Amino acid sequence: MFDTIQPAPADPILGLTDAFRADPNPKKINLGVGVYQDAAGKTPVLKSVATAAQRVLDANPSMSYLPIPGLPEYAAGVQSLLFGDDHEVVTSGRAKTAQTPGGTGALRVTGDFLGSNLSGSTMWVTDPTWPNHPSIFQAAGVSMAKFPYFDPKTNGLAWSDMLSALNEVPTGDAVLLHACCHNPTGVDPTPDEWRQIAELLNSRGILPVLDFAYQGFGDGIEQDAAAIRLFAELGGEFVVCSSFSKNFGMYCERVGAVTFVAKDAKQADIVNSQVKRAIRSNYSNPPAFGARVVATVLGDATLRREWEQELASMRDRINGMRTLLVDKLAEKGVPGDFSFIKSQRGMFSFAGLTKEHVHALRDRYAIYMVDSGRINVAGISESNVDPLTEAIAEVVK
Ligand code: LMR
Repeated sequence: MFDTIQPAPADPILGLTDAFRADPNPKKINLGVGVYQDAAGKTPVLKSVATAAQRVLDANPSMSYLPIPGLPEYAAGVQSLLFGDDHEVVTSGRAKTAQTPGGTGALRVTGDFLGSNLSGSTMWVTDPTWPNHPSIFQAAGVSMAKFPYFDPKTNGLAWSDMLSALNEVPTGDAVLLHACCHNPTGVDPTPDEWRQIAELLNSRGILPVLDFAYQGFGDGIEQDAAAIRLFAELGGEFVVCSSFSKNFGMYCERVGAVTFVAKDAKQADIVNSQVKRAIRSNYSNPPAFGARVVATVLGDATLRREWEQELASMRDRINGMRTLLVDKLAEKGVPGDFSFIKSQRGMFSFAGLTKEHVHALRDRYAIYMVDSGRINVAGISESNVDPLTEAIAEVVK
């Protein structure tokens, strides 16, 4: 039966990591997958996370199944990050959080929920978006459409086209937004634009789904949650898909969460029963270790403070590398004004490189980035910025 099966293409992001690993060039540079690297090019285990992990191991907790929505103390920690303490959506019982295997798991549970309960709803994504977004929702049987988001002429938001397109999205559909640190462009709406988007979706009866994979990588833990809190303040329904891969540096532990916010507690209970059903028929119940670690960090004032400082230092390093990249592009004579890179936020940057540039960088200099031209700024360091910008200067010539 397998004779007829055709090979699947390599994943546009994780496939790059395989190619990078296999590349024998000692000068290779990996700016592909969104994984944080420190100044020495290492992906650190955060000290707060290591301490909490040891505490979890020492406590030797049961390895019996977790409940379908995961650890309650983890869900409470996630809600405190999303909404702050004692927020109305939490105290009223409107918000229900389920632990998921990573942000991808959260998105897939959302897709399964939509497919089973709101079939006929199309999911609208930003153009461009993370390449796995369409794959996840299509796999869940949800049809996809996209709306303009990025304008390559200004390297900013395609604001008026975006607004007109959102005005045309049919009532009953869903729109997937990146709550901060847009992947792949690094371009986020301003607070005023967020308000207009939120009011538009609310008034038109469109379900906002917020992918929140980079909390703390933009301007700060609280600042980056502003869009989430705005949707909460408006009182409507929405969904948040959280990932702790990046901000806890726990990529391989697959720690995420999906939070459904309903109109009231009664509706939230009904929605939650369907979320549990979606989880049960997918992976049954979530893995425990990573969530126990995150819950330990968030539940201990000292560890939490240490984690916040570690997260701030990752954020500061990335923002420092943005400035350095802009300076070095100018120094190496790359034509154009790249100062816009400094106002982009999060791990990624669209710096105007084409697919041809990306391929030339890979083939001639063993510099790896996603075909879309996305640069992982967190992979830049003092030691690779010169060869990187010299190579960019060569290929754009
Ligand atoms: C990325 O965009 O590089 C990350 O979110 C990692 C991934 O799974 O693609």
